Amino acid sequence: MLTPHLNEAKKRTKSLVKIENFKMPEELKKIGLGKTYYVKTYGCQMNVHDSENIKAMLEEMGFNEADSMEKADLILLNTCAIRENAHNKVFGMIGRIKHLKEERPEIIAGVCGCMAQEEVVVNEILDKFSFLNFVFGTHNIHELPEILNKAMHKNNIEVEVYSCEGNIIEDMPAKRDSKYKAYVNIMYGCDKFCTYCIVPYTRGKQRSRRFGDIIREVKNLKDNGYKEVTLLGQNVNAYGKDLNLEYDMSDLLEEVAKTGIERVRFITSHPWDFTDKMIDVIGKYPNIMPYIHLPLQSGSDRILKLMGRRYTKESYLELFNKIKETVPGVAITTDIIVGFPGESEEDFKETLDVVNTCKYDSAFTFIFSPREGTPAAKMKDDTPLSVKEDRLHQLNELINKYALEANVKYLGKTVPVLLETISEKKDGMLAGYTDTMKLVNVKAPHDKLGKIVDVKITDVKTWSMDGEIA
Ligand code: 5AD
Ligand code: SF4
Repeated sequence: MLTPHLNEAKKRTKSLVKIENFKMPEELKKIGLGKTYYVKTYGCQMNVHDSENIKAMLEEMGFNEADSMEKADLILLNTCAIRENAHNKVFGMIGRIKHLKEERPEIIAGVCGCMAQEEVVVNEILDKFSFLNFVFGTHNIHELPEILNKAMHKNNIEVEVYSCEGNIIEDMPAKRDSKYKAYVNIMYGCDKFCTYCIVPYTRGKQRSRRFGDIIREVKNLKDNGYKEVTLLGQNVNAYGKDLNLEYDMSDLLEEVAKTGIERVRFITSHPWDFTDKMIDVIGKYPNIMPYIHLPLQSGSDRILKLMGRRYTKESYLELFNKIKETVPGVAITTDIIVGFPGESEEDFKETLDVVNTCKYDSAFTFIFSPREGTPAAKMKDDTPLSVKEDRLHQLNELINKYALEANVKYLGKTVPVLLETISEKKDGMLAGYTDTMKLVNVKAPHDKLGKIVDVKITDVKTWSMDGEIA
């Protein structure tokens, strides 16, 4: 048994990052034959992509995907630790698994992902939910075959969670959710330690993949018909800083664009590491999507400082304007936290002021959620929840207003849309995204799936648009 430790997870040393290549052990290739699995994913795109790797490994072991949790022989929850409600959902699901296991004790069930990296969570699992069969963390996803094999052959719970700075594993297989767009990790972990954020503890230190490995992956995806890649990292703008090479995110972005893949985007950006060179590259290559997610978190300098964000309202706006000026038609979205400890009405007004200035295309908004072990969780917080909820409501009203305004500008225009799914809600419609990440429902035949087509926008709402093939 190896359980996580918060103090270990905080450590950052200069030790070298090891790069290992994944290989499925021959003797484990058949352990899932005749069995089915169900993976439930919570949280960000990083987790979504980890689940794609997990699913592919399970299939290499002979498992088949089940269409519901109720039917599966193996259940895995890939969890997120970012806010309390993500936690609660997972514990609710563990309760459901308990019932399923009462009916079918042979079910094997486990937990992985960011919550598995939390000392408090693993202690709670061991204490109250030890009917689960296994727990592993974000650093040893590649050990799933061995961990599962052990769990299938013992009666008590198998816990293998490393609290280390982390290595890089290449050559993990992936069962991608889409045939047209793919996530490509460019870096893992984060060293920013924003005071509210659990990620540096759950994902380890910042470590960039070698650019050759990334470019090879992108070329391979392109050769296999993929139209869009999303370069993934907790803080992608810091790409390369840990490699001590004269090669940064702007160089990587340029080289990815030069592969000729039709669409490239990247998430998530920290304003601190966003360079002018990067903005120029984004403006220069038509296949780099004019879409940037630029988390603000707060518009108040006082709160930004308490958050450890390293920028001010003024420097954020300067960057925002530079991007808007250099990248024609760019859509910018953001993340905002309200009710950070000590946030006054005045501080909140500063946030609204930035929103009124930036008129974001859309935003994810959250009420601050204290995460055990982070500095902000210890800060004095005397704002009542009702006040925080009211701020969130006010903020959302404003965000929605500008989202609709941004969409209205598309009315009557013809824009390229990558059609990627059959619309769930509307018969005969396909759904896809513009290069600015606007969701569009389009009346189109199914043979247009996976194609980038010119679409004339005929109607707009706050979160989606309708259109027809031009
Ligand atoms: N409470 C509320 N929101 C948070 N986020 C990160 N940590 C917290 C927290 N403790 C938000 C930030 C981040 C997004 C992914 O989640 O806005 O950008
Ligand atoms: Fe959640 Fe952050 Fe982990 Fe993503 S990295 S799953 S957002 S805690």
